[in-house]
Amino acid sequence: MRILLFTGKGGVGKSTVSAGTAAMSAARGLRTLVLSTDAAHSLADAFGLSDGLPGGSLGSEPVQVTEHLYVQHVDAQRRFEQSWAEVQGYLLSVLDTIGVDRIAAEELTVIPGAEEVFALLELRRTAVSGEWDTIVVDCAPTAETLRLLALPEALGWYLERILPVQRKMVKALKPMLTKAAGVPMPGDSVFDAMVRLHGELAEVRALLSGPEASVRIVLTPERVVLAEARRSWTTLSLYGYRVDGVVANRIFPAGGSDDWRAGWVKAQDDVLGDVEASFEGLPVWRSFYRPTEPVGVDDLREVAEAAYAGSGRIDPLAVPETAAPFRTETTGEVTIVHLALPGLAQWVARDQVQLGRNGDELAITVGSYRRLLTLPAALARMDVSGARVEGGELRVTFSRQTTNTESE
Ligand SMILES: Nc1ncnc2c1ncn2[C@@H]1O[C@H](COP(=O)(O)OP(=O)(O)OP(=O)(O)O)[C@@H](O)[C@H]1O
Ligand SMILES: [Mg+2]
Repeated sequence: MRILLFTGKGGVGKSTVSAGTAAMSAARGLRTLVLSTDAAHSLADAFGLSDGLPGGSLGSEPVQVTEHLYVQHVDAQRRFEQSWAEVQGYLLSVLDTIGVDRIAAEELTVIPGAEEVFALLELRRTAVSGEWDTIVVDCAPTAETLRLLALPEALGWYLERILPVQRKMVKALKPMLTKAAGVPMPGDSVFDAMVRLHGELAEVRALLSGPEASVRIVLTPERVVLAEARRSWTTLSLYGYRVDGVVANRIFPAGGSDDWRAGWVKAQDDVLGDVEASFEGLPVWRSFYRPTEPVGVDDLREVAEAAYAGSGRIDPLAVPETAAPFRTETTGEVTIVHLALPGLAQWVARDQVQLGRNGDELAITVGSYRRLLTLPAALARMDVSGARVEGGELRVTFSRQTTNTESE
């Protein structure tokens, strides 16, 4: 099974390229699902489906578009209510005790970005079902997806360190605190809900950082868009996701004698040169600005086929050959951890890459992004004897501990 995620700034063509890639996969006879969390239902619109469905919208179950091709719009609100009900119920009771009005309280307990998280949970359910050969995910715009993809790890830290302590404390103090403050203490079911959610998110993460999954960055040839795309390349790698290509969309075809058009062609051409240079080592697929909006399976498939046609021998649907962003290499007593941080030098200075060690964890900070990496047992027993940024990656050298004391 192949999982393809498409991300990029708002409006660059993520839904168009996702739908097109899915249509291409289905045309090869692969059982394909394209999944989106977009409340605007733009996948359905792109396929020209919205009018033909009951209520004019896609349900939360996959809907067939054509042979082998299904589209699903995840009903995040419903999933949210099912999975988070326990925790939300507790938060609501607390807010109620301190006198917050019910409607306001409900708004407060909705987590921003929760929709994307629940869509990812849906992805896990879909992937384990074994019904699909290709799953295409039309992701939310860059920053949010990045942050949310890192959530399981961040939450894991909390759940492993703080939660057990808190749970014990709450048990011991519950009768006293409830009486004194009048604030209800969370019951076991609240903790259980968090643990369950964490387990599911960790599975999603394993799935998305596994060898069969990869992320494609969609961009338009404009400076601001490129700047953001570079940052996502580095940060996606930092979090362990494999980026296997870039789609440059809405390129104006050259031709004609119009100055306005010639101006745009020239400007885009300059940026495209920078795109190629910025994403060295990755295929940059070019997709031209069509005279009309691509709507319907055939149009969308053509957009994708035209874009991928430029990739030579690379099959856009095959499992990528790009190396995993995280790998270790052992020679004798020394192990080097290689963490790919491609494109780094272009937007962040070397000294903005920081490394911290705390027991079995490495904290890697790049600009304003941080990843807490739990070290495998073998490495956790070793000392960090050096680290440097070189050749588009962070190399951390571990060697056998010389003393028995824990390093700081
Ligand atoms: N190559 C193209 N030629 C012509 N029109 C295009 C092309 N690519 C996308 N469009 C049109 O541009 C608009 C935005 O595209 P799309 O919805 O795919 O972007 P998006 O990145 O998914 O946006 P959002 O961030 O809002 O989800 C749509 O109307 C789409 O039909
Ligand atoms: Mg979209």
